[in-house]
Amino acid sequence: MPPSQKALVPFVSVENMMRLVHAIGIETVLAELTDAIEADFVRWALFDKTPRVASHSRDGVIELMPTSDGETYSFKYVNGHPKNMGSGLQTVTAFGLLADVSTGYPVLITEMTLLTALRTAATSAMAARHLAPRDARVLALIGNGAQAEFQALAMKAVNGIDTVRLYDIDPRATEKTRRNLKNSGLRLIVCRSAEEAVEGADIVTTCTADKQRATILSDNMVGAGVHINAIGGDCPGKTELHPDILLRADTFVEYPPQTRVEGEIQQMPADYPVTELWKVIAGEAPGRREAGQITLFDSVGFAVEDFSALAYVRARLKDTGLCAMLDMIADPDDPRDLFGMLQRAQ
Ligand SMILES: NC(=O)c1ccc[n+]([C@@H]2O[C@H](COP(=O)([O-])OP(=O)(O)OC[C@H]3O[C@@H](n4cnc5c(N)ncnc54)[C@H](O)[C@@H]3O)[C@@H](O)[C@H]2O)c1
Repeated sequence: MPPSQKALVPFVSVENMMRLVHAIGIETVLAELTDAIEADFVRWALFDKTPRVASHSRDGVIELMPTSDGETYSFKYVNGHPKNMGSGLQTVTAFGLLADVSTGYPVLITEMTLLTALRTAATSAMAARHLAPRDARVLALIGNGAQAEFQALAMKAVNGIDTVRLYDIDPRATEKTRRNLKNSGLRLIVCRSAEEAVEGADIVTTCTADKQRATILSDNMVGAGVHINAIGGDCPGKTELHPDILLRADTFVEYPPQTRVEGEIQQMPADYPVTELWKVIAGEAPGRREAGQITLFDSVGFAVEDFSALAYVRARLKDTGLCAMLDMIADPDDPRDLFGMLQRAQ
């Protein structure tokens, strides 16, 4: 017997996610996702919030990121393994699920490796919309791996960036990024050092991967008025900025109990002042106050961003046919006769 409708959950494969992004257009996806995440940050108080559950090993981390707005529940499974790249694997892979809170039934399951790159870039763009200098045009992008192009395109689509200064310790990564972005309309400048990359930049994004404390930016490299978007420091013992930068910057974070353990601010005392980004977005705290201010978005990635991304995909999926239906939920004729259903299948 074929499974009943109640047994079926829409599943978005990597292939269908790629088709969906191309059908909409990547810059439109990034702009719409930015708005979707922003709308959820405004209703921040409604969400269940908990630091993600992280399982650390010598080589990396595996994390579960749950949240709910009371009507819909979501979680993401995501890993971070910087050494994976060396053996032809992604540093970050993910999948996730949305469920109906009233029944507990899943309503969507999807790949989230691509979706994480999209939502991380959209979150960066959202933060920059509130924190970066208003007339920012030049982005320095340090770390030219899997996330890089998404970050550049979101800053273009949402923040009006027209020039990107690229640097990676591995020139092949920079060349790959230059090639992928060459028809994007962005002016691309390949740099030989992080120092060169930050020259004249209004926004500096660090998205490197290393399972240790690194100093991608030192204090002397950060001029007045710059907005820093630090996305690669997102685990205990894994940071990108010299702590002196944090002494000069106003720092904005997603969810302090998680960021104090995982973000750049793990290097600072527990009372180091931070502003929750949602407060800026909801108009409850100031973002950029003056031209000379150094603003830092200490991004680690929070479950609400994944919730927004999953809900966005669910809405955009309607009538596209870009999903398979998975036989995922057992559905016996009599809900109490689960065993009978198993027996009849013999
Ligand atoms: N904050 C978030 O929400 C979020 C989301 C996704 C990924 N991340 C993090 O972003 C980082 C980048 O992810 P990815 O998928 O692009 O990884 P990746 O492994 O594909 O790319 C990382 C790049 O950084 C380069 N690099 C390493 N050390 C460097 C250094 N000292 N200077 C310059 N470049 C250096 C590597 O050569 C590589 O090209 C990871 O640390 C990941 O954990 C954060």
